[in-house]
Amino acid sequence: MSIVVAIDGTAGSGKSSVARAVGAALGLPVLDTGAMYRAVTLRAMRAGIDPNDAAACAEAARRARLAVEDGRVHLDGEDVTVAIRGPEVTAAVSTVSAHPEVRAELVARQREWVARHGGGVVEGRDIGTVVFPDATLKVFLTASPEERARRRAAQEPEAVGRDVDAVRDALAARDARDAGRAHSPLRAAGDALVVDTTDRSIAEVVGLVLERLGSGTGEPRGTG
Ligand code: DC
Repeated sequence: MSIVVAIDGTAGSGKSSVARAVGAALGLPVLDTGAMYRAVTLRAMRAGIDPNDAAACAEAARRARLAVEDGRVHLDGEDVTVAIRGPEVTAAVSTVSAHPEVRAELVARQREWVARHGGGVVEGRDIGTVVFPDATLKVFLTASPEERARRRAAQEPEAVGRDVDAVRDALAARDARDAGRAHSPLRAAGDALVVDTTDRSIAEVVGLVLERLGSGTGEPRGTG
């Protein structure tokens, strides 16, 4: 049985930084599933598809050639690592990712990715609840709305120059859509390690995750 670490949480909770650091510490590859939903959203937008059109979005997902490796995202042969972080994609991705047919396609690809890599650190919204309910360890990260907005304003090209209040409101709206959707909503698995990252450094959070992995519940089981 290979090691799978599921890291879920709200936007700006520190998922990506923690996932990268945990992956480096364990020598495991990292899969950013949000990047997959963003790439499908970009593909749909470029094709002029209405984000509310479930069938057309699902078709865009099924036809997409997607490669997510080492922090870079390729869509139909093009490097879209930067393009998928643009404001139009960010505004539409919650709508596109709420369609069950889109999710079914991407969840299958996420499971295939992990099988092909022999395990991994997988970050998203429904990894511990739906994609890998038998993950070696499930982590759910939260942070205060103010702190999340501050991090986003400092990081994301789309957020730079916008005031923290506007970023906080946009994040809150996206989280409400992600948590309120009917299929695979954002929520912590019952057996997840829940960590509030507001006043913790990345290193501290990573320390908690590795500690939990080394103790009872999340005993690393070695690959193969
Ligand atoms: O992690 P992110 O902010 O880049 O994710 C973008 C969107 O993708 C997020 O608002 C909801 C969706 N998403 C999802 O529905 N399920 C996942 N496992 C990952 C992301």
